Amino acid sequence: MVKRVISAAIFGYFALFVVLILLLGFRWNTQRKAPDQPIAFSHEVHVGKLNLECLFCHDTADKSTFAGVPPVSRCMECHVAVKTETPEIQKLTKYWNDKEPIPWNRVHRIRIRNHVYFSHERHIKADVKCEECHGQLAAMAKVRAVSSLKMGWCVSCHESKQAPTDCTICHK
Ligand code: HEC
Ligand code: HEC
Ligand code: HEC
Ligand code: HEC
Ligand code: HEC
Repeated sequence: MVKRVISAAIFGYFALFVVLILLLGFRWNTQRKAPDQPIAFSHEVHVGKLNLECLFCHDTADKSTFAGVPPVSRCMECHVAVKTETPEIQKLTKYWNDKEPIPWNRVHRIRIRNHVYFSHERHIKADVKCEECHGQLAAMAKVRAVSSLKMGWCVSCHESKQAPTDCTICHK
């Protein structure tokens, strides 16, 4: 009897521990995957509703490693005139007037980046679509990562598209 109570208690503590770890991990994950941004910029509005092309803003994606985020001037092409009175656009205008870049929080980051070679250009030129890696931005008010960016993710797509899978392609 005593043994049973003790083992039940141990099991209980263990289960609680596992649940806590899972909850913390989940919270950490969702926070990391969809951080708050200094301005409530929405792809749902700009891509879904206004139909702007990805490359209109991420204009280095087809010619360099990085897709990059647009400079404030790109936003001001419209927002010198559009919605100028709302609090979010006033924040935007303040960055513009102060000649400060917007400190966007990064959503995607390959772990051990220094040891992995990844280039947007290669993928865009091979006609891999943004959506295949980033999901439907047109439906995201706030960007979140839909892919793990882990090695297994890279390799399984490479296998399915007959792209190279030798270690030295991604690890120099
Ligand atoms: C009007 C400009 C604009 C357009 C058009 C646009 N984006 Fe963005 N994008 C941004 C800005 C600004 C950010 C940074 C703020 C944020 O994360 O919401 C961003 C962030 C992102 C990120 C996250 C970057 C990170 O930190 O990891 C991805 C992925 C992305 N955009 C993909 C796309 C794709 C795919 C399209 C086309 C379907 C697209 N964007 C169209 C302006 C734009
Ligand atoms: C091609 C024109 C265009 C560009 C470029 C553009 N926007 Fe917009 N943006 C709009 C329009 C139009 C709306 C209003 C859409 C609606 O409410 O239906 C809007 C809405 C917004 C809103 C919501 C405003 C509010 O408070 O209701 C924010 C925030 C915003 N844009 C930020 C940005 C940022 C940041 C950039 C640059 C990365 C940017 N926009 C680039 C046209 C543009
Ligand atoms: C083959 C998968 C893949 C495709 C296709 C892809 N991306 Fe990415 N994207 C990534 C990965 C992986 C990262 C993280 C890179 C890092 O950690 O440096 C990333 C990061 C980004 C970022 C953050 C800033 C940066 O440059 O690192 C933006 C913005 C972005 N992508 C936009 C786009 C847009 C727009 C397209 C289509 C024109 C696109 N991506 C196509 C995988 C992809
Ligand atoms: C959705 C599919 C897809 C994903 C995900 C993907 N790739 Fe690719 N990758 C491709 C295709 C297709 C090519 C083009 C092969 C070619 O040019 O013939 C390519 C090419 C490459 C190349 C250039 C190969 C060469 O011939 O030099 C590198 C490097 C690379 N990918 C790294 C990565 C890394 C690192 C990741 C993960 C962070 C990744 N890829 C994720 C589809 C993908
Ligand atoms: C298509 C791209 C790609 C190929 C091919 C590839 N890797 Fe990776 N590898 C990655 C990426 C991206 C990461 C880092 C992200 C992650 O997995 O968390 C990584 C991480 C690693 C790590 C670090 C693991 C850790 O936990 O720190 C090792 C070791 C590794 N790879 C070895 C290899 C070997 C060996 C091969 C060949 C059999 C290989 N990789 C082929 C993309 C690739």
